[in-house]
Amino acid sequence: MTTTKPTMIEFRDVHKYYGDYHALRGITASIRAGEFFSLLGPSGCGKTTLLRTIAGFEGISSGAVLLDGKDMSNVPANKRPTNMVFQSYAIFPHLSVEENVGFGLRRDSRSAADKAKAVAEALEMVGLKGYGKRAAHALSGGQRQRVALARALILKPKVLLLDEPLSALDKKMREQMQVELIRLQRQVGITFVLVTHDQEEALVMSDRIAVMFEGEIAQLADPETLYRRPHSRKVADFIGTMNFLPAKILSEAANVVEVEAPGFGRFALDAGQCMGAATGQGASVGFRPETLTILFEGQQPTDRESMATVEEVVYYGDMTYYDVRLDGTEAPVRISMRNVFGRPVLDIKTRTRVAWSPGALVLFR
Ligand SMILES: Nc1ncnc2c1ncn2[C@@H]1O[C@H](COP(=O)(O)OP(=O)(O)OP(=O)(O)O)[C@@H](O)[C@H]1O
Ligand SMILES: [Mg+2]
Repeated sequence: MTTTKPTMIEFRDVHKYYGDYHALRGITASIRAGEFFSLLGPSGCGKTTLLRTIAGFEGISSGAVLLDGKDMSNVPANKRPTNMVFQSYAIFPHLSVEENVGFGLRRDSRSAADKAKAVAEALEMVGLKGYGKRAAHALSGGQRQRVALARALILKPKVLLLDEPLSALDKKMREQMQVELIRLQRQVGITFVLVTHDQEEALVMSDRIAVMFEGEIAQLADPETLYRRPHSRKVADFIGTMNFLPAKILSEAANVVEVEAPGFGRFALDAGQCMGAATGQGASVGFRPETLTILFEGQQPTDRESMATVEEVVYYGDMTYYDVRLDGTEAPVRISMRNVFGRPVLDIKTRTRVAWSPGALVLFR
């Protein structure tokens, strides 16, 4: 969908040292104009550092950062077409909402009436119409982040940088703001770069995600590819739950790999399902909890089926998680099932059939 869009941000082999510490280790990536892009990774992997190199708050040790085709090496932060929203509510509590939002327009040559109109529009955009006169300290956390957003957007940056802007909000408010941020980004069409360590947030919001570990991008892809076809066990583990079973590679041809795994037996995978270079040992197959299905009494299998024993049941109302041990395997795997009215939740120790499909498996070698 966004493939034809021009590049807005480009990292060319970016390295960053803090003294001896190698915080960014050769980042090469492009972010497209109008894209909602996320940097996702565990604490300390370099997300904020990378974001700050875009804004110019952080110098780089080698490589280049380009914005809209222009090398930013000698462009100071205040001359870059970017704006940043931080995790903590960096608004001025002693000013009113409209004074906060209009803060960046102080030196703007527009008339007071035009500025007031711009402020009103920005407030409407973030769902704070009518709040202009309110004191900023008299706002909820979510409302303060909206003020911070409006204040950044009013300057019409080409790129909006967001460093964990929602992490201080409670779950309900965070989910609501996620949806609003997506809507807002579509509306204004500005390139958004979001830093988050919350994989669910990244999956929900992003056109594409760069998963980072220890100063490197481990995989850069759209949410579905990251979820369905993670390149490594590490990426798979970081994004949602993935089950692993040990596997043996029986044969390998150009586009088909013959595999055997306890619990599943023999099956064939195509090259797109096989990650990493062949090492000849230590392979495993991975699969998400929803790609296996418990077959209840009388149900026909969809593709293949195995026998299993239920070892643990976790009931969530709409879903039930079953930890089942496939016959012939050592450790249980997790299966998520949507609960259907009138169908019983299985008890521990129940023997059950489990349906699966080779198409839902990924091989890590
Ligand atoms: N000014 C600094 N001086 C020295 N080391 C730093 C500095 N800023 C960051 N670091 C180190 O660089 C690494 C990356 O930090 P960064 O803030 O980019 O991580 P992060 O991915 O944003 O983590 P978090 O999710 O905790 O915010 C960390 O190990 C951190 O300790
Ligand atoms: Mg950070």
